[in-house]
Amino acid sequence: MHRLNKEIGSNFYLLESKDPEYNLLEQNKIPLDVNDYSFYYSGRNALLAIIEKIKATNTIEAIWLPYYYCYTISDLINHYFSNIKYYKVSPFEFTKTIDITSFSNKNDIVILNNFWGLSTFDYPETDRAFIIEDHTHGWLSNQSLNSKADYCFASLRKVYPIPLGSVVWSPNTKEKLDYYQDTADEKIENAYKMIEDSTLLKRQFIKNQSLVKPEYLLSFIQGESLLSFSENYIKPKAETIDLIKSFFILDPNPIKKQNLECILQHIEPSKHFKIVKKEGYTPFGLLLLFRNYQVFDSFRIWLISNQIFPAHLWPNNKVLLKWKYLLNIHVDFRYDIDSMSYLVEKINVWVKNNV
Ligand SMILES: Cc1ncc(COP(=O)(O)O)c(C=O)c1O
Repeated sequence: MHRLNKEIGSNFYLLESKDPEYNLLEQNKIPLDVNDYSFYYSGRNALLAIIEKIKATNTIEAIWLPYYYCYTISDLINHYFSNIKYYKVSPFEFTKTIDITSFSNKNDIVILNNFWGLSTFDYPETDRAFIIEDHTHGWLSNQSLNSKADYCFASLRKVYPIPLGSVVWSPNTKEKLDYYQDTADEKIENAYKMIEDSTLLKRQFIKNQSLVKPEYLLSFIQGESLLSFSENYIKPKAETIDLIKSFFILDPNPIKKQNLECILQHIEPSKHFKIVKKEGYTPFGLLLLFRNYQVFDSFRIWLISNQIFPAHLWPNNKVLLKWKYLLNIHVDFRYDIDSMSYLVEKINVWVKNNV
């Protein structure tokens, strides 16, 4: 790995325009019209704004969530709204499309999640529930670019090195949401500052070998915690919107695709994990699905001991499937082919030692 402090995964560090990672990301652009999009601090703020906007002019009976979903979103929806219902999804297999008409009606809202950028949706154009699609893990995927939903949103801090930021668009009506509260939200603004500090400190750690790891982690955790207390959907500061706009047309997927191809060519198969993927689609990251929790945990610990930090998606869900412990390892523009070779080498050592 060419960087000074070898590390793969976890949260972003601040990038500067001279960084090779940034130059790589900048090579692929999708010409979106910025006037079609509204920007928020977080994915949760964006979703609150969308639901409140729908509820302002419609009587909503039920809000439908996938039974397997990011718990920060499920917690938020359960806290703010009543009559929450759940529908079945197959988050690790993509052979069937969900039939929303089998469970919802015109007075409902259905939230569809684009799982790891591999989902496709199909539903009637009219005479159906309000549809909100979450493209956090599939930003600039074909499904996100060709959606027919009433509203779509994506949390962009999961995709770009920005402290906070999310985007909302309305493919069906083409009416820009622009629905903000005129109030102060110190929690979200302080969360922004803390996560911004952590990205700065992490940059020092990665690029300068200064030992600030505990500090950047602490401000990141504090920022994350404040974020979950934000109850609003205010308009971000102008400079925050400008920062989001400067990134959101940059397509992260071609580099992910290239890195994943390198991994898939060299990774040794294991009876302990399956690779979640779909022909013709670029997933959010390298997704490894396990059956046995102890084995899953030993793999996770092995990676961490080698400075590879995977994310467990999503631990608070009750899943009845046999294969259900999912790890995501980032393979984005931060990582070059050398880093990916290092990752594969460490995975292959574990595979060899765990037959
Ligand atoms: C799929 C998905 N949607 C939305 C969110 C929420 O985004 P934010 O943390 O910006 O509120 C997350 C993660 O936190 C997520 O994983």
